[in-house]
Amino acid sequence: MIIAVDGPAASGKGTIARALARHYHLPHLDTGLLYRAVAATVLREELDPEREADAVASCGFDDLLLADEYLRTDEVGKVASIVSAHPLVRAALLQRQKRFALQPGGAILDGRDIGTVIAPDADAKLFIKATPTIRAQRRHAELKKAGLSVSIDKVLADIRARDERDSKRAAAPLVAAPDAAVLDTSFLSIDSAVQKAIQLVERLRAAKAGRL
Ligand code: CDP
Ligand code: CDP
Repeated sequence: MIIAVDGPAASGKGTIARALARHYHLPHLDTGLLYRAVAATVLREELDPEREADAVASCGFDDLLLADEYLRTDEVGKVASIVSAHPLVRAALLQRQKRFALQPGGAILDGRDIGTVIAPDADAKLFIKATPTIRAQRRHAELKKAGLSVSIDKVLADIRARDERDSKRAAAPLVAAPDAAVLDTSFLSIDSAVQKAIQLVERLRAAKAGRL
């Protein structure tokens, strides 16, 4: 079984994808980390994320970097959304994600283009969303917990800027696949969101099995 989980920043897709991976005993890949690794390499080498050649030169990162907490910062997230707009960067990371999705036994991937590009034949596709204000509150709470003081207005502005870049780009823009089930987590606790996600996956699987 392949499950695709897409959605904007702080919609809750990572939390849901990890819970689904535990529930179904499937391996999980957070594909945003790959783009974040490219971004962290660009920053470390003092390259220009807007230049496609600079971003492509940063795609051969060491896998050890994927575990680095620095990748999870907003600075890296912002640059990740700049480098990820380059078609050649997306092409460089494509095979690795497709291999992960097609491994025997199945997999869960979360990101922006899993249901549309990486695994268009996924058995279940979820598109997770929440209002920008609520997503900003979530990110703000995370930053506060980590001891960082950033205003909620700044977090909201960053989220809106990233939504805009991710949705407007020509290469694999953030958009729900036509056959994805949309789950709005704005007013759901994590537990309720996970329960709803499991119900949706079951429904999508049953519908797909019925069609075969
Ligand atoms: O966790 P969060 O949603 O904040 O970000 P992320 O999933 O780690 O992704 C960081 C950036 O990488 C996003 O803003 C996208 O621009 C890009 N990305 C992408 O283009 N395609 C994916 N499949 C995953 C991430
Ligand atoms: O992966 P993505 O950036 O979409 O979001 P996440 O990392 O799963 O969730 C962002 C934050 O929102 C985390 O701190 C979650 O605990 C929180 N969250 C929430 O408060 N309510 C939900 N229904 C889902 C996530």
